[in-house]
Amino acid sequence: MSRVLATTPVVGPKALPEGLDPERLPRHIAVIMDGNGRWAKSRSLPRVMGHREGVEALKRMLRLCSDWGVGALTAYAFSTENWNRPGEEVSFLMTLFERVLARELEALDREQVRIRFLGDLSPLPPGLQQLIADATARTAANTGIHFNVCTNYGSRAELVRAARSLAERAARGELDPSAIDEALLSAELHTAGELDPDLLIRTSGEQRISNFLLWQLAYAELHITDVLWPDFDQEALVAALLDYQGRQRRFGGVTSLP
Ligand code: IPE
Ligand code: IPE
Ligand code: MG
Repeated sequence: MSRVLATTPVVGPKALPEGLDPERLPRHIAVIMDGNGRWAKSRSLPRVMGHREGVEALKRMLRLCSDWGVGALTAYAFSTENWNRPGEEVSFLMTLFERVLARELEALDREQVRIRFLGDLSPLPPGLQQLIADATARTAANTGIHFNVCTNYGSRAELVRAARSLAERAARGELDPSAIDEALLSAELHTAGELDPDLLIRTSGEQRISNFLLWQLAYAELHITDVLWPDFDQEALVAALLDYQGRQRRFGGVTSLP
């Protein structure tokens, strides 16, 4: 039987699952990838096995977002507070980031992904910092999805850094403090140049923000799912998108914007 006449709308090169409106996809999705440890524990595995499986979920998510025409995906990989975890878990994660980036860079570049790492990268292992610098430079001119990996990222640290930078410019006489507005502050954040996320997904059921994108999420729609991050698959993403498309975004006004 021919499948050519399938009525599923097409966005970019790949078909969007039925029921989703291609005109109302979020332009930018942010995700708090939580629940790796619990996923492993439920299988009597060491926590770090959950992180390894979490990488597969992130690759899946990136591919789906890219295929469906979502413009940007920002994923929380390691917070400024995650240094408080046991040393072995932290070093496992750093090695994992390094291995995965080295292994996946070629394919990411081929698929036109533009990758950036958001956060204070200076405390990361030197080998990882080098890989990050290479990956960022190599993919900077790519025209596909913007893939932001928040690594040693904390929203409060990001805001403090922005405030300090503006204060230094003012102290040097380059900036009139009364000229500081939302656009100037936004431009000092790690996310400079990116649209604010339309949708925040948090897995594993926790109902909190955990120091993620406090400024940028001002008007994001929140989707919290009990699915643990390593289990997050196409079905879970479609559920998040359907939830998002069912919302009426008002931005403080009284009518829904188109
Ligand atoms: C999220 O999963 C991954 C990172 C924070 C690096 P967790 O490791 O927080 O998993 P849970 O919350 O303990 O289940
Ligand atoms: C948030 O998850 C950070 C990342 C997903 C990288 P956490 O597991 O660290 O958050 P809390 O401790 O439950 O708030
Ligand atoms: Mg957690």
